[in-house]
Parts: sequence; structure tokens; C-alpha cells
Amino acid sequence: MSETHETQPPAVTPRSHFNNWISALGAVLAVGALFSFALLVWMDLTGSNKNPYGGIFTYLVAPAFLIAGLVIIFFGAWAQRRWAIKHAATMPDKWRLDFSSPAQRRLLVLFGIGGVGFLLLSAFGSYQTFHYAESNQFCGQVCHSAMNPEFSTYQRGAHARVDCVQCHVGSGATAFIQAKLNGTRQLISFTLDNYNRPIPTPVHNLRPARETCEKCHWPEKFHGNVDITYDHYLSNRRNDAHSIRMLMHVNAGRPGGPIGGIHWHVSPDNQVEYYAADEKRQDIVWMRVTNKKDGTSRIFRNETFKGEPPAGTVREMDCMDCHNRPAHVFPTANDAVERSMAHGTLSTNLPNIKRTAVQAMLQEDITTGAEAPAKIADFLKSKYKDHADVPAAVAEVQKIYAATIFPERKADWRVYPNHIGHKDWPGCFRCHDDKHKTAAGETVRASDCTSCHSILAQGKGADLATITASGLEFKHPGGEYDEELKCYDCHNGGIQGK
Ligand code: HEC
Ligand code: HEC
Ligand code: HEC
Ligand code: HEC
Ligand code: HEC
Ligand code: HEC
Repeated sequence: MSETHETQPPAVTPRSHFNNWISALGAVLAVGALFSFALLVWMDLTGSNKNPYGGIFTYLVAPAFLIAGLVIIFFGAWAQRRWAIKHAATMPDKWRLDFSSPAQRRLLVLFGIGGVGFLLLSAFGSYQTFHYAESNQFCGQVCHSAMNPEFSTYQRGAHARVDCVQCHVGSGATAFIQAKLNGTRQLISFTLDNYNRPIPTPVHNLRPARETCEKCHWPEKFHGNVDITYDHYLSNRRNDAHSIRMLMHVNAGRPGGPIGGIHWHVSPDNQVEYYAADEKRQDIVWMRVTNKKDGTSRIFRNETFKGEPPAGTVREMDCMDCHNRPAHVFPTANDAVERSMAHGTLSTNLPNIKRTAVQAMLQEDITTGAEAPAKIADFLKSKYKDHADVPAAVAEVQKIYAATIFPERKADWRVYPNHIGHKDWPGCFRCHDDKHKTAAGETVRASDCTSCHSILAQGKGADLATITASGLEFKHPGGEYDEELKCYDCHNGGIQGK
């Protein structure tokens, strides 16, 4: 602090302009902020959880207080100087710190105690704030009410217990600095309320999977195939169930051996790179497959694309090119309604409830989350009159809507494609079709219906009681269709053909 030398007789040297109560207050503030800053930086550097938003406090709030403290110190000196020029001769110097006066000494002691208290409090406060900023609550709710859709979807996913920062920040010094800059930029656009709605996807500056996903799931560890059942209902009066039980050929290799099957793409022996002509990475026109063992590579091009990808646009395929929604799945209206039907929370006694519920959710005149419940209720009541199951159905559809469609953020499945599969979005078929060829005319292997999965059982009731290990031919529940068509030409997660 800026006290003058106690031993000097006050009259001999004109006292420093910094010797005044305002500057002393500024100094306490500045020292407190400096102390908090040092503590935060230390926590930031040593903490195992590196959070971009903790950075806001460390690199924005604490320095702001430091600067404020310094400004107050100089303001005090300036005010003191002005006062001195005007009144020095006529009035007692009442703002000065005078150690010879017992009253002032007592005040100084109080001030000192207050100062230490303030230091402790600010340290404790910043420690608490820092921890709070690291929490998922903060990421998902407070700062990021902008990100509410991500938070709601996150809570339902397999990664609900994995912190946001584990996937979004990663480890290493570069990730750390990038995250700080990003967090700060996001805070600013949040404050100015000019962030994008919906928040754009894909996230171009997401850390490579090596630094995030592979900390917990590493390719060498993968083995075995995955048995998944997809439960569906048809859009008919009886709400016929139709399930498809499939064995996904995820890791066709043996433990310890080379990785085959779907996870072949991320085997350490292979590298797949691609160039997408659009921002959303839906239109993949060029790809290169490299065998890392012998260094050979092959290039596939879509028939519409002749040249080379522009510099800096080639992306190495990793986990996120298939699992792009590991934590935030925006289920399609169709899937969300079917799930409730399968759980029994949406009554299948209501004729054609699947289509009706989806239609209720997708009414074009619903523009805010607040008006959705009433409009959904009116729609269902108008269709089913006073059927006994209507009140429960209304409540359930309102609930599905609130959890999956976010009109204020313009966020739902329609803007957040899921790359796993190929039914409602192109997904795997972005590359696995007969349209990508090498110069020699070779097509991408694994493009027929049995290379990625086998159908163990399909249909309903007794059809599902036996499984066929060799795999069944797919029986399309919607009837025969033209071979040329892809699933996503008709299925879009809403009403078919709409
Ligand atoms: C298991 C890993 C993981 C976790 C945990 C995770 N995310 Fe994500 N997040 C991703 C991936 C992957 C993407 C999409 C990347 C892409 O397609 O480029 C993403 C995308 C986003 C986006 C961009 C919009 C979008 O949906 O594509 C936001 C915002 C976001 N996450 C916020 C959060 C918040 C907030 C949390 C914590 C509550 C969180 N994330 C937790 C992996 C994760
Ligand atoms: C901090 C550790 C951690 C990180 C990082 C992580 N995961 Fe996970 N992941 C888990 C856990 C735990 C589960 C749940 C396992 C279970 O339910 O049996 C899981 C489950 C999964 C599943 C199975 C999902 C399901 O519905 O059953 C997939 C796919 C997956 N993770 C992909 C990813 C991808 C892609 C990333 C990177 C974006 C990632 N994970 C990052 C820990 C992690
Ligand atoms: C070519 C697309 C693709 C890539 C790339 C990919 N996966 Fe998968 N993965 C799948 C599919 C398909 C499944 C089957 C589950 C499904 O269909 O939902 C699966 C299943 C999983 C599972 C659950 C089953 C298991 O074996 O434990 C985990 C965990 C997983 N993947 C993690 C990863 C991680 C981590 C990476 C990156 C190192 C990765 N995947 C890369 C397509 C892919
Ligand atoms: C970016 C383009 C791209 C995407 C997206 C993609 N793949 Fe592939 N995949 C390839 C290429 C290239 C090959 C190798 C083709 C070849 O050598 O003929 C391949 C090979 C495979 C193989 C054969 C592996 C083996 O053991 O031989 C399977 C199975 C496979 N992919 C499944 C999938 C699935 C499932 C998805 C979607 C979840 C998917 N792929 C998405 C590019 C892609
Ligand atoms: C490149 C690999 C690949 C090829 C080729 C492929 N599929 Fe799939 N398919 C997948 C993956 C991955 C999923 C899983 C999607 C998920 O987990 O949501 C899937 C899911 C499905 C489903 C279940 C979808 C649902 O939501 O009920 C059906 C049915 C299906 N495929 C049929 C086919 C048919 C028919 C063909 C041939 C025209 C085919 N698949 C070709 C990878 C492939
Ligand atoms: C020509 C348009 C068309 C194509 C192409 C098509 N479908 Fe369908 N699909 C339909 C119609 C129409 C229905 C019946 C809708 C209903 O009952 O809700 C249906 C029903 C389904 C259902 C059960 C109900 C549902 O909505 O989930 C599944 C599963 C399905 N199709 C999967 C596929 C898969 C996988 C492919 C690609 C291999 C595919 N379809 C290609 C039009 C199509």
C-alpha cells in the first residue's frame, strides 16, 4: 500500500499525492485482484479439468478488478493533487493518512483488517467461482442458456456423466489457449446477444478425437460386434409394431488383431481423408484411403468432381465423422414418438397415433416453445375428440416436444444431422455408394446391405422370437420401392413424403 514513511516528520517533505484514503482503497482492491488472479492462474495451470469458462474469470474478471484498482489509485492521487493546489494553504489536509493521529491509527488498523478480510474473501470467491465455472451446470445452463438444447440432449445421452470440457477442450497447451480465446469470444457474443441460432454445426475447431474420445475409448481396445434393436411403428390405424434387430459389424477383427468392420476407419493402420464441398459435410466428393503399413493410397472421386480439393480443406476422418452426436442427439420427431410408444407412455390405443403425434409437433404455426403446449393440445383433441387416452397423450407429446424441438434456438434434428446410419440423413451413404470411384473405376467396398450389419430378426411378435445368424434380407415395412432411391430420399424424421 502507499503509506508514506512513518518516521519522517510530515512538514519536511511535501507528501506524495498517493498518500490518501482513496488511493489506499484502490490499492487494496488491486492487491486483492492480483492475489485472486495469481490463484486462478495457478488453479488453471494445475487443475485437471480445464475449462474455457474458468478463463473468463481468470483472464477477464480478475484483470478488470486489477485495472479498476489501479485506476482508483491514480484517481485518488489526481484528486489529491487538485485538492492540494486549490486548498493547501487554507484548509487542513483531511484525506491524508496521518500516523501520528491516534484516531487515524485506529482507522488504519480497521482498514488493515478489512483489507486482509477482503483478500481472503476474494480468494475464496474466485476459487468458488472457478469451480462453478467448471461445472456442467454453468456450461449448459447459465452462460449457455444459448446452449440449452445441447444441455437437454446431453442429459439424456450415454455421456451425461462426462463433463463438457472432456470433449470440447481436450488436453495440451494449444487446446488450453484456444479454449480460453473461444470461451471469451463466446461470452462476448452471448452478452451482445448476437450468437447464432441455431449454433452452427459441425464445430470446426473441435479437438481431434485423439485428444478427447480416445482418452476413454481407444481403437486398439475395440472388439466384438454390437446387437441393436430398432423399434418402429407403422402409420396405420392399428399402430402395428415393426422391429428390426441387427448385428452391427462394428469391430469385425479379433482382440489384438487388425481392426476390421466399421471401426476399420479408425484403425491405426488406415487413414481415410475426405473433402466435403459443403459446410455441413454432407456432400463428400473426394476421399483418399492410405494404408499406413505400406504407404500406398487410393483416391475416390464422386462423378461430379474432377479436380483436387482446395488447399486446407481436406479432413482426416475420425470418430466424430460418424459419432458426431455422441452427447447431443436431437432425435427425429418420428423416433421420439416411437420411443414413447415403445415405452408405453404414449397410448397405442389411439388410432394412427404415430403420424398424428408427429403432425402435432410439426405444425407450422408453432413459433415459440411457449405456445407449443396449447397448439399440441388443440390438435390432438380435434383429432381424437374425447377419447379417454387423450389427456395423457397430450401431456406426453408436449413433453416430447419440449425435450427435442427448440424453436427459440431454431434447433432440432432438421439442422443437426446424425451421421450414424443412413435412414434419415445420408450418413454412411455420403461415401458408401456406387458413385465414388478410383481412376481405375473401383467403387467403395462395403456398399451393399450386408457389409455393415446383418439383420437377425425383423417384424413383430413371433417374428422376433428366433434369430437368423446368417442374416435376413431386409423387408421394407413401407413396401417395395425403386432401387435407385436412397432411404433418406423418403425418410426425413418427420412425415414421410413431406
Ligand atoms: C462425449 C463428448 C461430448 C460431451 C461430453 C459434450 N459434447 Fe458438445 N459436442 C460434441 C461433438 C462431437 C459435437 C459435434 C461436433 C461436430 O459435428 O462437429 C458437439 C457439439 C456441440 C455444440 C455445437 C452445436 C451442435 O449441437 O453441434 C455445442 C454448443 C455443444 N456441443 C455444447 C456442449 C455442452 C454445453 C456440453 C456439456 C453440457 C457438451 N457439449 C458436452 C461432443 C461432446
Ligand atoms: C471421460 C471419458 C469419455 C470420453 C472423453 C468419451 N466417452 Fe464415450 N463413453 C464413455 C462412457 C463412460 C460411456 C458409457 C458406457 C456405457 O454406458 O456402458 C461411453 C459411451 C460411448 C458410446 C456408446 C453410446 C451408447 O449409446 O451406448 C459411444 C458411441 C461413445 N461413447 C463415443 C464417444 C465419442 C465419439 C467420444 C468423443 C467425442 C467420446 N465417446 C468421449 C466415456 C467417454
Ligand atoms: C465409420 C464410422 C465410425 C467411426 C469412424 C467410428 N465409429 Fe464407433 N461405431 C460406429 C457404429 C456404426 C457403431 C455401432 C453403434 C450404432 O450403430 O449406434 C459404433 C459403436 C461404437 C461404440 C459402442 C460399441 C463398442 O464397440 O464399444 C463405441 C464406444 C464407439 N463406437 C466409439 C468410437 C470411437 C472412440 C471412435 C474413434 C476412435 C469411433 N467409434 C469411430 C461407427 C463408427
Ligand atoms: C468419409 C467417407 C466415409 C464415411 C462417412 C464412411 N466410410 Fe466406411 N469406408 C470409407 C472408405 C474409403 C472405405 C474403404 C473402401 C475401400 O477400400 O474400397 C470404407 C470402408 C468401410 C468398411 C469396410 C472395412 C473393412 O473391414 O474392410 C465398412 C464396414 C465401413 N466402411 C462402414 C461404414 C459405416 C457403417 C459408416 C457410417 C457409420 C461409414 N463406413 C462411413 C469411407 C467412408
Ligand atoms: C456403410 C455401411 C452400411 C451399409 C452399406 C448399409 N447400412 Fe444399414 N445401417 C448402417 C448403420 C451404421 C446403421 C445404424 C444406425 C444407427 O445406429 O442409428 C444402419 C441401420 C439400418 C437399419 C435400421 C434403421 C432404423 O432406424 O431402423 C436398416 C433397416 C438398415 N440399416 C438397412 C439397410 C439396407 C436395406 C441396406 C442396403 C440398401 C443397408 N442398410 C446398407 C450401415 C450400413
Ligand atoms: C420410396 C420411399 C421410401 C424409401 C426409399 C424407403 N422408405 Fe422406409 N418407409 C417408407 C414409407 C412410406 C414407410 C411407411 C411409413 C409409416 O408407416 O410410417 C416406411 C417405413 C419404414 C420403416 C418403419 C417406420 C418408420 O418410419 O421407421 C423403416 C424402419 C424403414 N421404412 C426403413 C427404411 C430404410 C432403412 C430404407 C433404406 C434402405 C428405406 N426405409 C427406404 C418410404 C420409403
